[in-house]
Amino acid sequence: MHANLSLQQAPPFSVPARFLVSAPVFGLLAALVLLWHGPDIISSRWNPPMLAVTHLLTLGFLAMSMLGAMLQLMPVLMGMVIPRPVLFSSIIHTPLVLGSLSLAAAWLLQYRWLFLVAMLLLGFTFAVFVMVAAERLLRSVSRHITRTMMLLALLALLLTAGLGIYLAAGYVGETFAVARQLTDLHLSWGLLGWVFMLVMAVAYQVIPMFQITDDYPKWHQRWLGWLLFVLLLALSLTWFYPLAGLQALLGVLLAACLLVFALNTLWLLHRRRRTLPDTTMKFWQLAMASLIALVFIRGIAMLAGIELPALLTGVLMIAGFAMTAVNGMMYKIIPFLIWLHLSARNKDLRDAGRREQQVKVPHMRKIIPENAGLWQFRIHFAALVLLALATCWPAWFFYPAVLLFALAQGFLLYNLLNAVRFYGAKRTALQAVL
Ligand code: HEM
Repeated sequence: MHANLSLQQAPPFSVPARFLVSAPVFGLLAALVLLWHGPDIISSRWNPPMLAVTHLLTLGFLAMSMLGAMLQLMPVLMGMVIPRPVLFSSIIHTPLVLGSLSLAAAWLLQYRWLFLVAMLLLGFTFAVFVMVAAERLLRSVSRHITRTMMLLALLALLLTAGLGIYLAAGYVGETFAVARQLTDLHLSWGLLGWVFMLVMAVAYQVIPMFQITDDYPKWHQRWLGWLLFVLLLALSLTWFYPLAGLQALLGVLLAACLLVFALNTLWLLHRRRRTLPDTTMKFWQLAMASLIALVFIRGIAMLAGIELPALLTGVLMIAGFAMTAVNGMMYKIIPFLIWLHLSARNKDLRDAGRREQQVKVPHMRKIIPENAGLWQFRIHFAALVLLALATCWPAWFFYPAVLLFALAQGFLLYNLLNAVRFYGAKRTALQAVL
């Protein structure tokens, strides 16, 4: 394993596990809402039930798993200590669950007061998380670019949440209308500044470590994150000084950032030194292919003056890129943590001269069996293709797409719960002897 890993700092298993296991539950809820409303739901991005689905995925699945992964990765990759990690994770997890549910319910049931509840809960969650994580990152001795990029991603999360709360205020009362001119800014900071930046920051470390590849080129690591951030800042300024030409140029440069990252990642994976087939690698490849498809489809549509189906870009970015990358990482994070905690317990037993009482720790690849991950990948892949088709031909593809998506989320939940159950059984065996 990589020399940078700070094994002693790993938080208890329950800390990231509760976030990662909650994520596919929100994926399933999103599928349920889609099934309940039927194909009409995707006729417009402004449909309230569609906005509920978007946030069940961006908050319930993505923010949930990304905050959970950060709580594990910051200590392990950067040696940071998060004080009282179990308490801290509860303080973040509970309001994030309740806030995401309230926001979705507010759109589904059209209860104005629920927007207020969601604004308070989500505002609290993100403010506290960003404050604590940023303070710890600033104090960390690590000078890896991942640290800087995590800080930029956290800043983007704060801006996204701030803009989101301001937008939601428009739904609460009659005083002012929804500031719809800000929605694109909110989603750009959310999907590019927060989600894409964090995936990139984590990829710089976990792809070379787990896939045994070369490092990303130095220029890539040093400049791409900053470039993305500066472009997003410039895009925000065009909201005050609307210059159509500049906006188009910034769009092209942002697309170039996505493309550079995707192509570089595919190239590294292609030249990896590990020869064993690996499910997480397939997820990475699919995530990168979705990014490339997104850039090309948008580019061609722009040049040819074609209007794309309202939700195609969202499907490719949220389900295709972000959820795919996170899903793949879960298959490394959870087994790695289980392996790490059980190995640490065994070491305590060896140090105490009780070698015979150790529990057997299987290889990481056996904790979530490769085959189970592979089948979940295939279903997720098929769901993604059908979802993209459903945005063009909803009458034909909507129901098969959503049913497969629900199956993929259910399967992911099953795989994660099996791993958690396995850890619980081993821990009980160890506690009996310790
Ligand atoms: C505090 C948390 C958040 C709140 C309160 C919030 C609120 C909102 C609101 C009220 C809208 C609708 C605006 C309108 O009707 O024009 C919206 C749109 C959107 N939000 Fe959020 N949001 C939050 C977090 C996020 C995050 C973290 C992401 C992405 C990672 C995100 C992605 C989006 C997207 C993609 C849309 C546009 C949907 C579309 O146009 O189809 N939101 N958000």
